[in-house]
Amino acid sequence: MPQHPDDVAAHYERLADDFEESWAHSPAFVSWMNRCIHARLRLRPGDRAADIGCGSGLYARSMAEHALTVVCVDPSAKMLAKLPTMTSFVPVRASIEDLATGAVRLPHTGQLDAVLAKDVIHHARDVPTALRTLAALLAPGGRLVVVTWPLRIDYPLFDKAVKRHEQAYIDPADMARVLTDCGLTVEVTCQTYRLSIAKEKWLAWVANRFMSLLSSFDDDELGEGLREIDTRYPGPVIEFEGRFVFTHAQAPAHS
Ligand SMILES: C[S@@+](CC[C@H](N)C(=O)[O-])C[C@H]1O[C@@H](n2cnc3c(N)ncnc32)[C@H](O)[C@@H]1O
Repeated sequence: MPQHPDDVAAHYERLADDFEESWAHSPAFVSWMNRCIHARLRLRPGDRAADIGCGSGLYARSMAEHALTVVCVDPSAKMLAKLPTMTSFVPVRASIEDLATGAVRLPHTGQLDAVLAKDVIHHARDVPTALRTLAALLAPGGRLVVVTWPLRIDYPLFDKAVKRHEQAYIDPADMARVLTDCGLTVEVTCQTYRLSIAKEKWLAWVANRFMSLLSSFDDDELGEGLREIDTRYPGPVIEFEGRFVFTHAQAPAHS
């Protein structure tokens, strides 16, 4: 079941200061993810791009190195406040729902060459509406990349958390159908990256509920979960496969 938007908002306002401490812990991983994104977005100088649910701009930064403009969209003021100052960034405080209803209209709507939505689509109140909204942002020939987690994740979490992820899972095949119905050409691919994290660090992040998935557990459940992880992974370092699904869509050259 999707989390209530107020809970999601509170989660990111609370987490903003520590967001990159965990999610950007490995520069090698961030570079790898940037390569995966750029292989699909194929940014060119002069391109107008947007990062929807940009957070602290972890991936928008690299987009800005290749594009003329990056519209950085996020409903969390505290996350947007973490964006570095870059002349090509255009920060916009909005949710996907604000774009869908027309409450907020982005600069270059319908004229964007590239749109990224990484680790955000699971927060949309209605995923098909959100995807149609993203598709409508694109210029003819524009590219959209939606990054999500697969059903089977290898993250060192406790069983109840894994189950909650599976219950809220968004099937890329469903996303592909919606985008195909919008007239886009769609390709879904999965890539993996081997992550290695000191167990002490990982347990501290989990205790801090660094994933929005974890914010739905109360203190007792989380304490139990932490003990489960501690027992399951006895060594000082935890290694696992980070798996990511890239739903990559392209608008027809001329509509
Ligand atoms: C897991 S973070 C991902 C941030 C960034 N894309 C990254 O990969 O580093 C999710 C981001 O989506 C934003 N968000 C939450 N609900 C949203 C919504 N309905 N529409 C757009 N963004 C949303 C949050 O504020 C947060 O910054």
